[in-house]
Amino acid sequence: MCGIIGCMKKNKSNVAPTLLYGAKKLEYRGYDSVGIATYSDKIHVKKDEGKIEEVHKRLNLYDMPGSYGIAHVRWASVGRATKENAHPHTDENEKVAIVHNGTIKNYATLKKELKSEGHTFTSQTDTEVIVHLIEKFMDDGLDLEHALRESTKLLKGSYAIVAISSDEPYKMVATRKDSSLVLGVEQDSYYVASDILAMLKYTRNIIELEEGEIVVITDEDYVIHDKFDNPINKEITVTPWTPEMIDKNGYPYYMIKEINEQPEVIQKTLNDKNKIRAVLDDIGDFERICLIACGTSYHAALSGKYIIETVAKIPTNVILASEFSHTLNVLDEKTLVISVSQSGETADTLKALKMIDEKIKTLSIVNVETSQMPKVTDYSIITQAGPEIGVAATKTYLAQVCVMYLMAGILGNDSELIERLYEVPRYIEEILERCDELKVYSKRYSFVNDLFYMGKGFSYPTVLEAALKMKEISYIHAEAYASGELKHGPLALIDFTMPVISVIPPGEDHDLAVNALEEVKARKTLILTIGSENDDIIEDKANDCFLINPEVDEEIAPLVYIVALQLVAYYITVEKRLNPDMPRNLAKTVATE
Ligand code: AGP
Repeated sequence: MCGIIGCMKKNKSNVAPTLLYGAKKLEYRGYDSVGIATYSDKIHVKKDEGKIEEVHKRLNLYDMPGSYGIAHVRWASVGRATKENAHPHTDENEKVAIVHNGTIKNYATLKKELKSEGHTFTSQTDTEVIVHLIEKFMDDGLDLEHALRESTKLLKGSYAIVAISSDEPYKMVATRKDSSLVLGVEQDSYYVASDILAMLKYTRNIIELEEGEIVVITDEDYVIHDKFDNPINKEITVTPWTPEMIDKNGYPYYMIKEINEQPEVIQKTLNDKNKIRAVLDDIGDFERICLIACGTSYHAALSGKYIIETVAKIPTNVILASEFSHTLNVLDEKTLVISVSQSGETADTLKALKMIDEKIKTLSIVNVETSQMPKVTDYSIITQAGPEIGVAATKTYLAQVCVMYLMAGILGNDSELIERLYEVPRYIEEILERCDELKVYSKRYSFVNDLFYMGKGFSYPTVLEAALKMKEISYIHAEAYASGELKHGPLALIDFTMPVISVIPPGEDHDLAVNALEEVKARKTLILTIGSENDDIIEDKANDCFLINPEVDEEIAPLVYIVALQLVAYYITVEKRLNPDMPRNLAKTVATE
């Protein structure tokens, strides 16, 4: 759950600004602490607790000599966010420096052994055992790459590691297992990083490293060795992502930029209709679907269940990846397991996939093509959201939901549904154009401590997602319930201190959802309703209303109404002077179980 980058400038120019830029682009993976190690006559290290900008102000991270080095941004898992626990980690003599992303499960045992052999530890991290192991194997006579290889044989858990050593100047080695690592290749420099965002400004030529491969980068060339230590040739591919895609383009935050990109994301997803059809044709017959995912992707999967069961009439189960083990017993060869993930790196989801019998077909719906998930599933669909930097998922959520609507339409031969999806970008544009209305409402709700969301049927996953968005960026306690459940308990919570946000599109569930609205109105609380234009009934019952094009009925509302709710969460957060791109305690890629 951290970001790592290494860079070797073959032209011997100063590497620190490049490392810092790369680390900044990885900051969405963690921002508890940052550190850089470069080599020039010896290994130089600067690191500290805090976000990159804060640490840079204190330490001037540009002021590092050398033309190659490594950098790290951390999301604290083993060991608190302190200077000592920040990466890079070095051995006692600063002969070896490493950055690591992942979790070493057997670090306590290894640490005990290494301590008994005389190694001195200065941090509470799991990572520090790796640096002492490399040092030990180098002291035994191995070169850096073989010391790394021998060390990894002793590690249990996940890792992407980049290491340098003052004993072997102008060499950098890297390897991975269960954490991603990408190599970037340019005329004058080489890069290795957790993902391509760190190097996209400098190169689009990438090589994905497979498990157990070790890349040895020098100031002349690079060589990749397979897990048996044989040198291998791997093809360089050109990523479709471009540097422009990761610019803020004048927006104050990535989140609002990404919310505004959603009409285009839907359009690009619809352009993939035939690719999605081809994947489904390849998969062939199945009688049941089991969707596994976490967080926002879980909510997208729930939306998928509603539309797939309605249109394609295929029984569909949705399981939180972290709870998946209990479902294993009921899977059979007639089940298609679909994992849904923005990052493709979520440890809980990857672990669930690993538990599945090889005979059962698996499909991943993933936004990051170079991530691990497409590699461990039989089939994959890459969502066309482009890079998403804001920690709170917005455009990737909508892309996932849109893929599942297309799947439902294709599997259920419902061309009318598919036709209607082409109108969705226009409906979203209409909401974005009226964002000032939502800004005004948001001011009114920004001071609250609690919020209650309710929605029925197709809108239930939408309110679950809206409440998650609100929690994670504004820190307002938000609960979401299916409207019909209100009377079974949560109504007891409703009084004037608990404003309600209700989602009521037109359709079969409208009247029952309005009944629930009546129930909360009677408790004299503030109500904001997202509904349809010309719906006099809801206008009468809510204090505030945001009304959407009446052509959007309950069936396609999940692709449209969520945009208004994302904007409400965003504006409330900005009103509270919080940074929506970097919520506390969270990271975008959750590579820990
Ligand atoms: C979304 O806003 C959250 N950051 C989080 O819930 C996220 O959706 C979850 O961790 C799953 O991530 P994934 O889609 O990358 O698997």
